Amino acid sequence: MNILITGGCGFVGSNLAIYLKKNIKNSKVFSLDNLSRNGSKVNKNRLESNHIKNFNLDINSKKILSLKKFDFIIDCCAEPAIEESIKNPNKVFNTNLIGTFNILKKVQKDKAKIIFLSTSRVYSISKLNKIAKKKNIKKRIVPKIKIDHSFSNDSPISLYGFSKLASEMLIKEYSYMYNIKYIINRLGVISGPWQFGKVDQGFASLWVERHMNKKKLSYKGYGGHGNQVRDLIHIDDVCEIILKQIKKINSTYNISFDIGGGINNSINLKQLTKKCQIITNNKIKILKERNTSMFDIPYFVSKNKKIKKFYKWSPKKNIDKIISDIFYWLKKNRKILKGYF
Ligand SMILES: NC(=O)c1ccc[n+]([C@@H]2O[C@H](COP(=O)([O-])OP(=O)(O)OC[C@H]3O[C@@H](n4cnc5c(N)ncnc54)[C@H](O)[C@@H]3O)[C@@H](O)[C@H]2O)c1
Repeated sequence: MNILITGGCGFVGSNLAIYLKKNIKNSKVFSLDNLSRNGSKVNKNRLESNHIKNFNLDINSKKILSLKKFDFIIDCCAEPAIEESIKNPNKVFNTNLIGTFNILKKVQKDKAKIIFLSTSRVYSISKLNKIAKKKNIKKRIVPKIKIDHSFSNDSPISLYGFSKLASEMLIKEYSYMYNIKYIINRLGVISGPWQFGKVDQGFASLWVERHMNKKKLSYKGYGGHGNQVRDLIHIDDVCEIILKQIKKINSTYNISFDIGGGINNSINLKQLTKKCQIITNNKIKILKERNTSMFDIPYFVSKNKKIKKFYKWSPKKNIDKIISDIFYWLKKNRKILKGYF
């Protein structure tokens, strides 16, 4: 089986490429990545030591159409930082939406199947803000509500959210026109080793790294109390469920899922700080930035009911495991990672 992973030198793509190569007999796994993300060159080296070739192409390159034939394309290529919606709308739109369009042409040509990594950020920002009324954000928000496809996609959802939602719709149209099998996964916050976290994307690895190396951090938004809640899912759990989806593609296809850590893996920033203090044995000063970004949400926890039903699967790795895996990854690879955070 020939598998192409777009964004294969990113956090998700690189871990997934190595995992699939190890776990699907006789598979040939390839990556397509223009190495634009900080840290993607490090991940490319990891791929190469696992005998996985990267095509150094832009997602919108016409050359993609003349690459070898693939049986599966797993689309992990994106500009995933939500704040880029305002800072760099061209990149968000071109990479995330036009890029999906280009990839779909290749899927059509090869009669391949596609798995698309969508996001929980397709859900309405204003409706999510209503869940945890701003006046209550000073208090810890206790997770109660789990979000899935029944939740509103009303604007605003950010340009990032729009580009992913529009990509989902495009995939469905292509599926209808050309009889293409697809799976769409709306993922919550994915965390784990080989994520080059930054302030606006990948906060779990950023938090551990900043504690480890005693650097500055801020609680941003909602008054700067650090009470925003997210559910974290370990990258290993994401790889495991995608493998199951590939194996079952002939019976389960043309379907969309929500996948995240769920209530048991939900955490707010203050609690994350505590866990980082314990594992690193360091306490750093955390500043307060009271102003809230127009894209921030106070709360997100995924409802995994559908994915559980179809694959008899739930995420296995808890938050402590996520944090310790990040910590030991940073510790073990200090030299390679120098200058990347
Ligand atoms: N990480 C998360 O928490 C998360 C959550 C939900 C959904 N997702 C989705 O999962 C996918 C992977 O996310 P990630 O965290 O691995 O992101 P990432 O930034 O680590 O990886 C994306 C990769 O795409 C490459 N890339 C960017 N623009 C490109 C272009 N124009 N042409 C070719 N390559 C390009 C980058 O170099 C990078 O290696 C994305 O589609 C993202 O929207 C991620």
